Formats: sequence, C-alpha cells, structure tokens
Amino acid sequence: MTKPIEIKKVAIIGAGTLGAQIAMAAASSGYDVTVSDPHAGTFDTTIDNLHADYKEKGLNPAILPLDQWAKTRQKVRQVQKNEDAAGDADLVVEAIPENLELKRSVFKQLGQIAPADAILTTNSSSIPVSRMEESSGRPERVLNTHFYMILEGMNMADLMGGSKTLPEVLDTGADWIRSLGCLPLTVKKELMGFCFNRVWRAVKREVLYMWGNDFVDFRDVDRAWMMAFGHHGGAGPFAGMDHVGLDVVHDIEMSYYNDSKDPKDHPPEALKQKIDRGELGVKSGKGFYSYPDPEFLRDDFLDPNG
Ligand SMILES: NC(=O)c1ccc[n+]([C@@H]2O[C@H](COP(=O)([O-])OP(=O)(O)OC[C@H]3O[C@@H](n4cnc5c(N)ncnc54)[C@H](O)[C@@H]3O)[C@@H](O)[C@H]2O)c1
Repeated sequence: MTKPIEIKKVAIIGAGTLGAQIAMAAASSGYDVTVSDPHAGTFDTTIDNLHADYKEKGLNPAILPLDQWAKTRQKVRQVQKNEDAAGDADLVVEAIPENLELKRSVFKQLGQIAPADAILTTNSSSIPVSRMEESSGRPERVLNTHFYMILEGMNMADLMGGSKTLPEVLDTGADWIRSLGCLPLTVKKELMGFCFNRVWRAVKREVLYMWGNDFVDFRDVDRAWMMAFGHHGGAGPFAGMDHVGLDVVHDIEMSYYNDSKDPKDHPPEALKQKIDRGELGVKSGKGFYSYPDPEFLRDDFLDPNG
C-alpha cells in the first residue's frame, strides 16, 4: 500500500483571478496558504475587485459567503518571491498566465525550490501538464488541476495527470479538490482542454468565429443562450468571456492554435484589436459589454421589442 500524501502547506503562484480564488478557498478549508506574485498587492486588488463585482451582482455563493471574505483573506500570507511561498510547501498551485514557455520556466524554478516530495499542479486552461513535466524535474509528481471561478460557486476542477504521474499523486489531487468543496472532473487519458473546459472551449471557438467574421451580432448569441439556458440568471458566452478576461481568452485560444496549427483555431483579429485597445472585459470596465451595468443585465435585453 502506498503512503497517503498529506497536504498542509499550500503555495499559490500568481495572485490573479484564479490564484486569489484558490488561495481563499484553501485558506477557508484550513490549509496554511502563501500566495506569491511579483506585483505587490495583487492578491488584495483581485479580492477587492471580485468582492465588489459579486456584491453588485447580488452573488453570495454558499462556498464562501461574502461576509466571511474579510476574515479568510487575513489568513493568506502574501509574498513576492516564489521561493518564499513554495520553499516549504506540500502542494504548489501554478496560476500564472497561459503561456507554455512561461509555465515551463516557472515549473523549472518550482522543481528546484519546492521540497522534493511536494506536488506541483498547474491551473492551465488548456495545456496538458505533460508539456511541462520534464521542466519540473519531478514528472511523477505533477498534475493538471484546472479550477474554475470557485468563489462564484463554480466549485469543480478538471483533474488530469501527466505521462508519469503516480496513481497516489492523482488520488491526492482528487482529495485536494474535494477538500476545497469542489467536484473533481477526472480525465482518464490525456486530452487538451480536459473535461468541462473542452466543452466551454468548443462554444467559445464557434461564437468567436461567428462574431469575428461578422456573421452575427454578439448580443444575439448571448440573447439566444440566455433564452435557452439562462433561466437561472446565466449569462451568454460573450458576457462569460468578458468575465474571464479577453486577454486570458486570447492566450488560451492561441495555446490551442499553437498546438493544432489549424487556422480555424486562431482567434479572430478583432479580438486582438479589442485587447490592444485595453478592452479586457470586466476587469478593465469594457470588453464586449461595458461595466458596471452591462446591457445584458438590463430588463429589456431579452425583450423582443426592446
Ligand atoms: N480567468 C479565468 O476565468 C480562468 C479560469 C480557469 C483557469 N484559468 C487559468 O489560470 C491561470 C491564471 O489565470 P488568471 O485569470 O488568474 O490570470 P491573471 O492574469 O489574472 O493572473 C496571473 C498572475 O500571475 C502573475 N505572474 C506572472 N508571472 C509570474 C511568476 N513568474 N511568478 C508568480 N506570479 C506570476 C501575474 O502578476 C498575475 O497577477 C491561466 O493558466 C489561466 O488560463 C483562468
């Protein structure tokens, strides 16, 4: 029987949209959490922005109600050097931008600074961990654990091993995801995009193609989506991309394109132009929609006569 791997100290590398949420979920689940970001104060800024956004939308997810955020964020230690977070961690979560070379260089660094038996995970939205496992120097102890917007109530994570990941490391990954109150979506053999994120990706690719080639008004896609699936307040795919961050969406789509080299996988030039104009979505106040008060939340958005 293999020895269970005990996780107490968790290092989160990158304090942006996802890193900050994973840090909060881990801290509220009793882990000793340190978050590292080269830009001081990123964790606080991210949490402040998410809190303001959720308050405005009236979101108060059961997984961590808003009135508990102040207490929980105090438990998260913030540092600017990855070695100060990962040096004594049992589990390291990489949540830096979606760029394979960057992720490889950070996996290499983490492989050198984290304890030898620590597990390294990537929150990549598209890249199988096998593409960075050799950089880590410990390919048997790496995982894809792709968390979603946990604090918003998307409490699930895709789970996938690399080519040499040990079964007990996969089991520990599933236990870690469950311990945060999230559902592990286990991928049985390597698949780009994993489980649910591959479904979301197929939707994004199609709607970006339709908008980017001027077939449709993006609002009509979101209207149709909301009519079809939005009976519980769900937003459409373009509002969803604004929420993710259009720069993050572009990086993810480029990652798929770099893998397939299929022109159909290349995101439209119009998306790049929006990013160049600083239209990054909710975080910059403008993306497909303008924030606060985006038009898809207005009463007349689904009004046939609106
Ligand atoms: N935004 C989403 O909805 C979402 C959802 C699931 C997964 N993801 C994935 O999670 C990862 C992070 O995405 P995000 O949206 O949080 O990005 P983000 O841009 O909001 O945050 C990334 C953070 O990483 C920091 N960083 C950059 N280089 C670093 C380094 N060498 N060491 C430590 N920190 C570093 C940056 O300063 C930044 O604060 C990406 O792989 C993304 O594809 C994003």
